Amino acid sequence: MKEIVPPPPPIVRNDVAAVQALFQQNVVPSYGRFDIVLSHGSGSYLYDLTGRRYLDLGAGIAVSSLGHAHPAITEALVEQSRKVIHTSNFYYHEPQGRLAQALVSLIGPGKCFFCNSGVEANEGLFKLARKFGHDEGRFEVLTTLNSFHGRTLAGIAATGQEKVKKGFDPMVPGFRQVPYNDLEAMRAALSPATVAIMVEGIQGEGGVTPATPDYLLGLRQLCDEKKLLLLMDSVQCGHFRSGRFQSFQRILEGVPGGETFLPDGISMAKSLGGGFPIGAFWVRAPYADLLGAGSHGTTYGGSPLACAVALKILDVIQREKLADNARQVGDFLKTGLQRLAQRSPKVIRAVRGLGLMLGIELAPNLANLPGDSAKTQAVRFAHLLHAAGLLAIPAGAQIMRFLPPLNLRLAEAEEGLTLIESVVAKLAA
Ligand SMILES: Cc1ncc(COP(=O)(O)O)c(C=O)c1O
Repeated sequence: MKEIVPPPPPIVRNDVAAVQALFQQNVVPSYGRFDIVLSHGSGSYLYDLTGRRYLDLGAGIAVSSLGHAHPAITEALVEQSRKVIHTSNFYYHEPQGRLAQALVSLIGPGKCFFCNSGVEANEGLFKLARKFGHDEGRFEVLTTLNSFHGRTLAGIAATGQEKVKKGFDPMVPGFRQVPYNDLEAMRAALSPATVAIMVEGIQGEGGVTPATPDYLLGLRQLCDEKKLLLLMDSVQCGHFRSGRFQSFQRILEGVPGGETFLPDGISMAKSLGGGFPIGAFWVRAPYADLLGAGSHGTTYGGSPLACAVALKILDVIQREKLADNARQVGDFLKTGLQRLAQRSPKVIRAVRGLGLMLGIELAPNLANLPGDSAKTQAVRFAHLLHAAGLLAIPAGAQIMRFLPPLNLRLAEAEEGLTLIESVVAKLAA
């Protein structure tokens, strides 16, 4: 493999323990990391320092939309970096304007703001909501239990999981959670201060749970009735992962009223940049100028380099019809997982998700599951998948998530099913 940066000194190269020691001594231990030191990737595969190959059905938590080391991304990075990498948002440049235009034409009339991560995109939507309700003294955003909206202070206040809030009191005021897919609970929770509702089209970290069509349509109606903004966190479930650009489009396919459904704001990140950090939010036309000059910003947001990469990814997704691929390969993977669940109900309790955002819920108290019982079943199951040569992402204590590159091939999905089956067979024995 051609080196992009000069090779590190020999103590680091090919020395798993040395790399881990660097982390232990120098990196804040805020992540529970797996015992794998990755070296490089190609397509849907990642390789560790010892040369072991893994089929990557996690894609860095739904990020590597074109897989690893995709030549189109390399080309965009090289070409744009030869021109200009960064300008600040004091000035105009073509890639940001063109990316905004592309996203607007994919979603609907409105405008985009660019940032660097998913949580920043959500923060922007929270600020938009506060601005919208400011003169009426409305500021509260209702979110849902089991949601995940990111790790900043507002992100954890919005997130419907106690584990992310623990130790960080007091929470930023103005966020409350109600059960997901429960329209009446949302209606009952409204207060005179409520200004917006934020939901994920498919809850990711919370366990790969899609919203129901009635819920989405009902939320739209409720927001119209009560003059609230309907905000959708599409950071994980968006960008063609469901088989349509937005998961709500897939969920509402064929449902009366579904084709005209639009939220008021959508946050994006992850697959948008394929691994290059970029986040964005889209805001519907009537509210698109609420955040006027000086009201919101970030130094790096929408840099020429990030936007050139995101544009190239969109181009490849459209040219290679990767939305259709996500739908077809996703349906194939889901059918295979469902077959596995039917054969081994004592191991897999349920299969959920759409397109290439799938999850299996493990049965509780799996007797044959090896590993440290202080760790969740999902983490211990992930260890077994790793040993079999497959990377996947735990969600909560009981769910394994599969969020592969959007260009995953059918043969790779078949290989993944075989590897998952080998693990399930051992646990079912
Ligand atoms: C639905 C959702 N929203 C927000 C975020 C936060 O994104 P980031 O980690 O890029 O800040 C995530 C990250 O996993 C997510 O899944």
